Order: sequence, then C-alpha cells, then structure tokens
Amino acid sequence: MRVIRATRKHLYSITAMTRHFFPYTGFTFSTIIERMADKSILYFAAEENGHTVGFADVEFHGKQAKILGLAVLQEFRGMEVGTALLKKCLAAAKRRGCSRAVMFVAEDNDAAHSLYSKFGFKKSGVLHRKLWDKKVLVYGRDL
Ligand SMILES: CC(C)(COP(=O)(O)OP(=O)(O)OC[C@H]1O[C@@H](n2cnc3c(N)ncnc32)[C@H](O)[C@@H]1OP(=O)(O)O)[C@@H](O)C(=O)NCCC(=O)NCCS
Repeated sequence: MRVIRATRKHLYSITAMTRHFFPYTGFTFSTIIERMADKSILYFAAEENGHTVGFADVEFHGKQAKILGLAVLQEFRGMEVGTALLKKCLAAAKRRGCSRAVMFVAEDNDAAHSLYSKFGFKKSGVLHRKLWDKKVLVYGRDL
C-alpha cells in the first residue's frame, strides 16, 4: 500500500467515496477537479495494487489545516490505511507551516474518534450545524 498525491486518475474513486461517505459536502466530479487544482487544498490517495482504496483531503487556511475527508474502503480497513493517510495530511500541514490541524467527526463515529485520539487530537468544540442530523465534534491538535 502507498499513499501519494492524488491525480486525475484517482478522480472517479475519490468522487465515489466522497458521495458515499460525505454526501453532505455536495462535492461532484467537477467540484473535486476544481478542488484538486486549488493550491490551498491537497488530496491524497491510498493505493493497493494500483487500485484506490482510500483518500483524504486537507485544506490550508493560514496557520490552520482542516482535514475534511478521510475514508478507507470497508475491505481495507484495520490495515493502517487511515493511519497512513492521516500521517500524510499532518506532514503536509507541517511543511506548509501550519501550527494546528482540525477535523470534524460525527459524534457516533467510534473508529474515527479512536484514530484521532491515537494521534493526539482532542475535542475542541462542536460544529454549529448538524450533518445527517448528527452532532459533529471538532477535534484539534497543535502541530
Ligand atoms: C475512520 C477510518 C478512516 C479508519 O481507517 P482504517 O484504515 O480502518 O484505520 P487504521 O487501520 O489506520 O486504524 C488506526 C486506528 O483507528 C482506530 N480504529 C480503526 N477502526 C476502528 C474500529 N472499527 N473501531 C474502533 N477503532 C478503530 C483504532 O484506534 C486504530 O488503531 P489500532 O489498530 O491501534 O487499534 C475508516 O473507518 C473509514 O473510512 N470510515 C468511514 C469514513 C469515516 O467515517 N471517516 C472519518 C470521518 S472524517
């Protein structure tokens, strides 16, 4: 497995995963093309035998990095793919001179809470709006 900067060849898989896991973003194929071209956003793809099995996107807002999507296909979970994607996002944020990373997690997403806690993220607030009718917690960590 390897995690690399996503390119257009990953677009279809990233769009499908975004629709499946993060439908509330409303991101479409063309939105994601635009986001990939935006210098303040990075997409990473996790590849296994050439297939895209996970992705993450991170937005840079001054000194703060917002890790938005982080998803791994069901069949490839529990194999450290999420860990590898998160490490790439954090390393990229440090390289860009960010001093803080934040992420948003639905209250009942135990796997994500556990993964972020393992990386030293702490609950720092609650998102002002609900997603999918669920309360969303903001997790943050200094870099
Ligand atoms: C959250 C997610 C990305 C984790 O990916 P993954 O590749 O399975 O994670 P890893 O194998 O790297 O696991 C790392 C840690 O995450 C936590 N974790 C992963 N799966 C878990 C589960 N089913 N239950 C509890 N904790 C879990 C554990 O702390 C684990 O560390 P450990 O193996 O030492 O116990 C994955 O479950 C996913 O894609 N979920 C759907 C999309 C999503 O909810 N994304 C997060 C919202 S921002």
